[in-house]
Amino acid sequence: MKDKLIIFDTTLRDGEQSPGASMTKDEKIRIAKALERMRVDVIEAGFPVASPGDFEAVHAVAAAVKESTVCALARALERDIDTAARALKGARSARIHTFIATSPIHMQSKLKMSPEQVIEHAVKAVKRARSHVEDVEFSPEDAGRSDFEFLCRVLETVIEAGARTVNIPDTVGYSLPGQFGTLIKDLIERVPNSDKAVFSVHCHNDLGMAVGNSLSAVLNGARQVECTINGLGERAGNAALEEIAMAVRTRRDQFSCEVGIDTTQILHCSRLVSSITGFPVQPNKAIVGANAFAHESGIHQDGVLKSRETYEIMRAEDVGWHANRMVLGKHSGRNAFRTRLREIGVEFTREEDLNEAFMRFKELADKKHEIYDEDLQALVTETHVSSGVEAVKLVSLKVCSETGETPKARITLQWNGNEQQRIAEGSGPVDAAFKAIEGIIESGCNLQLFSVNNITTGSDAQGEVTVRLERAGRIVNGQGADTDIIIASAKAYINALNKVLSAPERHHPQTSNQV
Ligand code: KIV
Ligand code: ZN
Repeated sequence: MKDKLIIFDTTLRDGEQSPGASMTKDEKIRIAKALERMRVDVIEAGFPVASPGDFEAVHAVAAAVKESTVCALARALERDIDTAARALKGARSARIHTFIATSPIHMQSKLKMSPEQVIEHAVKAVKRARSHVEDVEFSPEDAGRSDFEFLCRVLETVIEAGARTVNIPDTVGYSLPGQFGTLIKDLIERVPNSDKAVFSVHCHNDLGMAVGNSLSAVLNGARQVECTINGLGERAGNAALEEIAMAVRTRRDQFSCEVGIDTTQILHCSRLVSSITGFPVQPNKAIVGANAFAHESGIHQDGVLKSRETYEIMRAEDVGWHANRMVLGKHSGRNAFRTRLREIGVEFTREEDLNEAFMRFKELADKKHEIYDEDLQALVTETHVSSGVEAVKLVSLKVCSETGETPKARITLQWNGNEQQRIAEGSGPVDAAFKAIEGIIESGCNLQLFSVNNITTGSDAQGEVTVRLERAGRIVNGQGADTDIIIASAKAYINALNKVLSAPERHHPQTSNQV
């Protein structure tokens, strides 16, 4: 029997710390349900003390998920830990993950604490968390740059205090695979009570080593990997879940452990996270990129046709490519629509939302003959967006664009209950549309990113647009989808504006004060 490698997904927590990737409660529930279907072992749902909205989202995920353990993050502070415990109430299986930094630079500059004070805080935090739940995880933040002897002392003490999982983060993505693997091996050997806890790793990708470091740790005894869908996460991101799962599975000859993930759900999760957060997946991304299984060159195709293994080490269908992409169309009824949504993990709790989504589906089916799962996901995202309370709503948009002429846009918005109209010119139709919107709202936001991707193939495909706006240091992403990319762009801009206008203050777990 091989050991189990626990897959701990932190898309909803570390993933959400990427600039602009913040998610609403409903979006978090949709992703959590998809992760549960994929049989992820632990879902880190958020940092409940960050804001009332974060608390609510963790609480809702805890109630919605039945098969996976739901985890909440807490700094080594009584208030954080008690808030995490309250947010997790109702979870079938709950874990509190508490952390404090242990590297000299973090202790001196951020915490302004001595090593002894850090140990004291860590022990208190673990004991406090254990007073709420059995399943407690502890992380020495920036372990990758911590003093080895000190790290051993911290780990021994927190295991003694009741931590069942000790997670070794390479917080700044500084480690190299050989070195990080050795660190894990040495820690397991040197910490006297290491057999009482699962050793976990959490690697960031600043040097592009997050997956390599995590796998090296697994080869050296780690039995939990913290990772995210598409490698989303703080700065350059975290280790990508799909790459970890497929590496362990494909190279089972090298690993003495195995994952319990249903890999056929990988592509679905990847697309869902990308469409909700507005972070597109690069075409050459391993496992989930559009080219990952495309054998373009003649030589490769010939090889693959003769024998698949010539160039393929994995089967595309094992990660969800070509899997049952049932197509709906103009004549599909409400039942078929609802059934397909259920099959891709979407269930509307309010009948009005289902009706609204069905109406949008019919409108889309008039413009586009075949509706794929990806179209349905985008449509569900829009329905959730529009069922929320929004300050700005798109009423209509007209654009004129002609060779040799300056493009013009006329937009009508509902803004705080009143309809207002503006006409603006721009260097292109998108620029004109954005200027017309700003003519009404005057938000003072800076446009940081504008990207268009086709959701499916074909010239009748919907374009999915991401707009990133910044105001006073706050960054948000907005998404919009439509067969008309100018309308999709306006929707995305308005979606981002609504987020900026309604965004509450949130605390960041790692950069806000520890005490
Ligand atoms: O990167 C990190 O150190 C973290 C911790 C909170 C585990 O995300
Ligand atoms: Zn992290």
